[in-house]
Amino acid sequence: MNVRKAVIPTAGLGTRFLPATKAIPKALLPVLDTPVIHLAVEEAVVAGIDHVIMVVSPNQEAISAYFDASSDVARMLERQGKSALLERVSDLTKKVTITYAQQREPLGNGHAVLVAKKEVGDEPFAVLLPDDVIRGGDSTIGRMIDIYRETGGPVIGVAETPEETIPQKGVVAPTRQDGRVYEISGLVEKPSIEEAPSNLAVVGRYVLPPETFSALERTRPGAGGEIWLADGIAALLKTHRGTAYRFSGELFDTGVPAGMLKASLREALERDDISDEIRAFIRDLAP
Ligand code: UTP
Repeated sequence: MNVRKAVIPTAGLGTRFLPATKAIPKALLPVLDTPVIHLAVEEAVVAGIDHVIMVVSPNQEAISAYFDASSDVARMLERQGKSALLERVSDLTKKVTITYAQQREPLGNGHAVLVAKKEVGDEPFAVLLPDDVIRGGDSTIGRMIDIYRETGGPVIGVAETPEETIPQKGVVAPTRQDGRVYEISGLVEKPSIEEAPSNLAVVGRYVLPPETFSALERTRPGAGGEIWLADGIAALLKTHRGTAYRFSGELFDTGVPAGMLKASLREALERDDISDEIRAFIRDLAP
């Protein structure tokens, strides 16, 4: 079955990015000048997704305002023939339907996905956690959708992670490898380095069968009292054939200031209009 829908949870508190996130949703913080939510929707559209379900908290009207092509600012700039970025936003919204599901309390990223159950219905879907920004390489979620078409089971994006970070990550247990694609038998949350079944850590890209919702409904709150998507998928892997995909691009964790700064610098160095200025600045800063 084709994968047409993507769920993008944005309703978390973003405590690791305070104080900025006190008043601004984390998903609207920019990599250089483009909000991470824009990058996630763009990635979904490139992969052929035609309906994005955004999971928002009750006070996140700013996110729907961002995608509102008929806002006053958009109309004014259109009249003045200005702003390439706003054009990019309206271009994007022409290619995809965006609807909103409300998560009243931040009960975890698994709970956020569950909130989108009605909108997704009985079909497979992609999940993109917008903090994990992937630049360059093949379309990660697009390649994962191709794999789902072959397997019909959960497909999880993974990246090799340095050994010392393993105890903070979800790690997959591979049983067979074919290039970037691994058959997996399970998923272990935050293992010790000795117990870790591999160094392949889960990143925020998934393509999942509709049975994920019933697995999440059975999932009890885990660490921090939250319902974790990884726990729901771990349960699903007991009955479904799972696959991990080691994507080819570069990963930035923009949910923390250092990751966001690195992503912005990478982007700036690729922009013709400012790359020389930024390169010179970095050289002066750290000769
Ligand atoms: P994170 O755990 O990275 O986000 O969730 P967070 O909880 O907002 O961040 P910290 O730990 O407090 O700094 C990954 C994605 O899942 C969403 C977040 O908004 C983020 O996009 N999320 C998380 C929800 O939508 N709801 C939740 O209850 C938790």
